[in-house]
Amino acid sequence: MRHTAPLLLAATLASAHAQSSIHFDPTQHVWNLSAGAMSYVLGVNDHQALQTIYWGARLHPSATFPQPRQLPEAASFDPGIASTPLEYPGWGGGLPYEPALKISFLDGNRSLQLEFVDAKVTADELEITTKDALAPVFVHLHYHPYPEGVLARWSTIENRGKDTITVEQAGSATWNLPANRNYELSSLTGRWGAEWQLETEALHPGINVLESRRGSTSHQSNPWFAIATRGETTETSGPVWFGELGWSGSWRISVEQTHADRVRITGGYNPFDFAYPLAPGQSLETPKFYAGYTTSGHGEASRILHRFQRAEILPQRPSPKPRPVIFNSWEATEFNVDEAGQIALAEKAATLGVERMVIDDGWFGQRNTDHAGLGDWYVNPQKFPHGLKPVIDRVHALGMDFGIWVEPEMVNPDSDLYRKHPDWAMNFPGRPRTEARNQLLLNLARPDVRQYVFNWLDKLVSENDIAFLKWDYNRNWSEPGWDAVPLPQQKEIYVKYVDNLYSILADLRKKHPQLEIESCSGGGGRVDLGILRYTDEVWPSDNTDALDRLVIQDGFTHAYSPNLMMAWVTDVPNFLDRRSIPLDFRFLVAMSGSLGIGNNLNKWTPEDFATATRMVAFYKQIRPTVQLGDLHRLSSPRNPKDNTDSETSALQYVSTDGATSVVFAYLHSQHFGRPFPTVHLQGLDPAATYRLTPLDPDKAPGLATERNGSQLMGQGIDLALRGDYDATAIRLERTR
Ligand code: GLA
Repeated sequence: MRHTAPLLLAATLASAHAQSSIHFDPTQHVWNLSAGAMSYVLGVNDHQALQTIYWGARLHPSATFPQPRQLPEAASFDPGIASTPLEYPGWGGGLPYEPALKISFLDGNRSLQLEFVDAKVTADELEITTKDALAPVFVHLHYHPYPEGVLARWSTIENRGKDTITVEQAGSATWNLPANRNYELSSLTGRWGAEWQLETEALHPGINVLESRRGSTSHQSNPWFAIATRGETTETSGPVWFGELGWSGSWRISVEQTHADRVRITGGYNPFDFAYPLAPGQSLETPKFYAGYTTSGHGEASRILHRFQRAEILPQRPSPKPRPVIFNSWEATEFNVDEAGQIALAEKAATLGVERMVIDDGWFGQRNTDHAGLGDWYVNPQKFPHGLKPVIDRVHALGMDFGIWVEPEMVNPDSDLYRKHPDWAMNFPGRPRTEARNQLLLNLARPDVRQYVFNWLDKLVSENDIAFLKWDYNRNWSEPGWDAVPLPQQKEIYVKYVDNLYSILADLRKKHPQLEIESCSGGGGRVDLGILRYTDEVWPSDNTDALDRLVIQDGFTHAYSPNLMMAWVTDVPNFLDRRSIPLDFRFLVAMSGSLGIGNNLNKWTPEDFATATRMVAFYKQIRPTVQLGDLHRLSSPRNPKDNTDSETSALQYVSTDGATSVVFAYLHSQHFGRPFPTVHLQGLDPAATYRLTPLDPDKAPGLATERNGSQLMGQGIDLALRGDYDATAIRLERTR
């Protein structure tokens, strides 16, 4: 055993947070990490490899663990390392499953055998250094337990040799589950206009790949997973192992069940088309891969992630401000924005109680359609002859702040920028440049492009009183070439592009601390824990049909907090499916996230204004509970048996101090005059008394104004919802 490990003197280093800790047993080389209600234990095995010992419910501090041992060979075809739950397997030694790391050396060798070197505990973090048995390749494994019940893991691969090595596959972590044949995997899939579709399927021997090869996070698959025990786990009970990756570029999570029924999950950079050379002295850090565990079902798994995102990830961590009610002009005016038109809309929006006015696409360059203008970020002088100032001043005078749409990473070939710098667009020299929405990607990995993008954004925000950017991104990558650097480095584009994106966002926020940013990608194409370190909210989908939105929002909340979920009320018939849903139902759907209004207010009747004003006022009362409380998905808009739409759904939010709660109930379509199912509340104090304030008293007949928590949860409440698209909400306040 090559133990250069300095013995850690302190056996226990509790973090600043009481609920996360790192314990170390120096006699066995075993670390016990606790994060909220979860414990995670790992150790150095008899082959000097790091091995997972335990991932599950929080253990009592008296729990002890012998040094782990590599499992024996099952057959000559199934070596010991195939069944051993390794923490970070390098590809080598006949590993037949997904490795966390694969490297090629100049001499053609491609085998790695990572062995323990030493470990150190600093503040909240455990860092274990491993090294290849022969080559001077060091891999540092980082573990950061958070009190909310989440463990972050990532790695740093360091070349201390004399020759360049090439990293061909780099995962952040491998997570091992207890042996069981009865797991099911939930994931979020979709496409433009239909993101956040929750899919659940039984695991079986073989590999399930969740991934994006598109250069960004993608609508098609989100880097989130939840694994539960089939027949045992429900929304409110049973074990769930869950996780999400913090990376906004091409990513991959492999969920693999071995033929010995062991489940391992490896995630990080997508190895497709990946190669990252490390010259002597260089290192590569992988994205953070966060995971947690609960015994209280899918609902609690979501709540752990929501609390974690608000306390540890979002730019305004640990206490994000409530999101303002916004008006966005996109669906009202599309590209036809101008000074008078935007001021007229702002004036109408202000009467509703809107707090932020956002001008969407069309305000810059020669941007009259989606065929031109991206890249030319000057204010269009025909549409805004006096610049943006008159609009912004008027918006401020109306008591709102001002936001604006940008799409910084894109360029239309019909733009001054492209005519001047055609080489700035991502391309393979001599090959056609594939356009999507008539646009190309700027190669943000280039330092000159990064500088250009930062400079104009900084100028725009410095010269105008802008509180908010809606940062859009409307296509996938194609031809990801980067011929300005030598051939071996060209594939670094997959890492450097995203690193530069993050650094622009970070620098912009640093220079303009009041600025808030939304991550939008033609809807929900770029939502992940990487971009969320720099953005305050996301646009989950361009699909604003309220019925579809219930399903979209349900899927979204499995992985992300409701305060991130920008939700607009828009006009009917809906642009996507021509469905017409009453305005109050549309509001009540949007009010279960961060409320926005995207209607053409010029076409509204006085009744519409009255409905909207009432809803915005009600929303402001419940907003802290909705955005920053605990969500209980009381009944799903999806029929869990066959994933079809259900007839009804209900949601409840409870503030973290338990003092307030709000219930939303939705009748999507009524069949055979069936009554709305009794709504059993959750998460209340059974001994406390709550005052109930229904939004529509006639829809909650006979509802006593005060009720006891046990009664609200046990007996539940009955609502008089009727017909198609009927909905209501009830506010609760604890009185004693
Ligand atoms: C994308 C966004 C929309 C809107 C348009 C503007 O599709 O998702 O909300 O901003 O771009 O072109």
